[in-house]
Amino acid sequence: MRIQRIKGTNDIFGEEIFYWRFVEETFRKVCESFGAEEMRTPIIEPTELFVRSVGEETDIVQKEMYTFVDRGGRSVTLRPEGTASLVRAFMENSLVNRGFPQRFYYVGPMFRYEKPQSGRLRQFHQIGYECIGSPSPRADFETILLLNTFLKEIGLARHRVYINSIGCPSCRPNYRNALKEYYSFRYEQLCEDCKKRYERNVLRLLDCKVDAELAKSAPKSVDFLCEECRRHYDELKEYLDSAGIPYVEDHTLVRGLDYYTRTVFEVRHEGLGAQNAIAGGGRYDGLFEDLGGPSIPALGFAGGIERIVLAMKEEGILPPKVNPHEVYVVVLGKEAFKVGVELAKKLRERGVNTEVEIMERNISAQLKNANRLGARFSIIIGESEITRSVVLLRDMASGEQFEAGIDLAVDRVVDALKTKSS
Ligand code: HAM
Repeated sequence: MRIQRIKGTNDIFGEEIFYWRFVEETFRKVCESFGAEEMRTPIIEPTELFVRSVGEETDIVQKEMYTFVDRGGRSVTLRPEGTASLVRAFMENSLVNRGFPQRFYYVGPMFRYEKPQSGRLRQFHQIGYECIGSPSPRADFETILLLNTFLKEIGLARHRVYINSIGCPSCRPNYRNALKEYYSFRYEQLCEDCKKRYERNVLRLLDCKVDAELAKSAPKSVDFLCEECRRHYDELKEYLDSAGIPYVEDHTLVRGLDYYTRTVFEVRHEGLGAQNAIAGGGRYDGLFEDLGGPSIPALGFAGGIERIVLAMKEEGILPPKVNPHEVYVVVLGKEAFKVGVELAKKLRERGVNTEVEIMERNISAQLKNANRLGARFSIIIGESEITRSVVLLRDMASGEQFEAGIDLAVDRVVDALKTKSS
């Protein structure tokens, strides 16, 4: 039996790759335009890192992590998200000495053992951004602005930004109590999962899909904010309003990771089904301390590349394409192959994507292949051409052919490609 890929993972190739590259390259460009630098952390981390950051009681840690014991007897986990790793790396590499703020971005695979469906995978890919060191709502504003700029830049229009504030350790206990009281009167109506969550993490009842009706009239975290958190939230909204970034306040938005404080946000796309969150994030002012470090305020977000690509397709956005086969070198015989290799080298040096025949086929099969690949020009080299020091250039669209001296062939092709594309 042939081996197949693991459920919930994907092979990404062909047309699909252009979407991915466009998303990744645009994200890099936008992040760097805001002063962020790239960080690459390991895919594998000590399990404890995620237990202490994402949270013991979260769905991710309870049932979704790819955790195993390695040959040295250590419990390791394939990262389910990027924030914890980035914070660990920041501390481990003493980056605090560089001063603040520091902005980082990352791109890469994440792993969660979830039930696969459209837009939900077990190996999925995130673009992520973290802004470290500023407690100010200006950092929250800038982070949402960056995300918004990126989504606009890839051409998305049918998405919305949802925001909420879930307070800080000083005001959240009051809110938690109010929620507990509200749900205690409705306990019997709760789904089985929520009955368990009621004790362990009552905030999560608000984003349960089954109990969504009950959440609508539940107490709102924004009504329980302390003065500092209220001022922070109001100021963020003021900056968003003044920059003309539309947002919706959603008091059921609590997010599935435990490290959040104050601002949380999510971007949902209306063209997607149940998995419509294309990005999500928030502030995590206590995370550095939770991981044994100093107190450093920070926030960030991550977007799911698979979902962003689905949203692009939904909106009919086409990514720019690269043709890897601009020129096809048709060679007939050993000597022709050697000449072809030299010409291809010179073309590649001039930035032209060039493929040389290596299948030893006859001329018509080679030209057919050049057509199939979408080559714009073929260079045909046979025995008789070599004796006369010429090659044949063929415009694949018109079928027009002309002879050129071997020495001039590269210039002619480069010029012809320029005129064609201008
Ligand atoms: P998250 O909401 O768990 O946040 O994930 C961010 C995004 O990753 C989601 O909005 C979604 O687009 C995508 N995503 C999550 N799970 C899957 C999946 N199973 N399949 C496909 N896509 C998925 C975080 O991961 C936080 N680290 C974000 C953050 C950064 N907060 C602060 N800084």
